[in-house]
Amino acid sequence: MPIAVITAGKDHLDWLLTRDRHISPGWVLRCLAAGEYLVAIEGAAPVGFLRYSWFWRAIPYMELIRVDEVHRRSGVGSALVAAWEAAMREQGASLLMTSSMADEPEPRAWHRRNGFVDSGALTFGALQATPEVFFVKAIEPRAIRRPTPPGSRTPRP
Ligand SMILES: CC(C)(COP(=O)(O)OP(=O)(O)OC[C@H]1O[C@@H](n2cnc3c(N)ncnc32)[C@H](O)[C@@H]1OP(=O)(O)O)[C@@H](O)C(=O)NCCC(=O)NCCS
Repeated sequence: MPIAVITAGKDHLDWLLTRDRHISPGWVLRCLAAGEYLVAIEGAAPVGFLRYSWFWRAIPYMELIRVDEVHRRSGVGSALVAAWEAAMREQGASLLMTSSMADEPEPRAWHRRNGFVDSGALTFGALQATPEVFFVKAIEPRAIRRPTPPGSRTPRP
C-alpha cells in the first residue's frame, strides 16, 4: 500500500499521545503546534512518526523516529526520513543530525543505512550514563536565489 508522509495535525494528537511516550503530553502539544512531527499514513491510518527539533536553531535534529511494530521493515521509516530530508532541504538546511544510544546497535545500523555518519558521543551524567552516539548527514540545500543589489552588474547567464 502506498505511504504518504505529511506534517501531523490536530487530528493526530490522540494517536501521537499513545505512541510518543518519551516526552510529556505538554511537549507533544508544543511540537505538534510547531509542525515538528511528520506522520506516515498507510491507507487512512497513521503507522509511524518522526519528531524533530533544531539544534542551534540551525541544524534539524531528528529526535525520534518510530514505526508501529507490525508495519516495520516495509519502507515506512525510510519514507519518513526521505520526506523530512526533502522538507529540511526546502528550508535551506545543509546538515541533518540524529542520535541513538551506544547500546542500541539496530537503530545505529539503520541510521547508517540512511546515509548518516558517526560524529561522536556524549554522556549525560546521572540522566544517561550510556553514551549517546550522534550522527550527521550533509545534504544539498535548495538553491536560494538572492535578489541582485541595486546598482550591481547583472551576472552573465
Ligand atoms: C528504526 C525504525 C524506525 C525503522 O523503520 P522501518 O519502517 O522498519 O524501516 P524501513 O522498512 O524503511 O527500512 C529500510 C531498510 O532498512 C532495513 N532495516 C529496517 N530496520 C533495520 C534495523 N533495525 N537495522 C538495520 N536495518 C534495518 C530494512 O530491511 C530495509 O532494507 P531493505 O530495503 O534492504 O529491505 C523502526 O525499526 C522502529 O520504529 N524501531 C523502534 C524505534 C527506534 O529504534 N527508533 C530509532 C531510534 S530514534
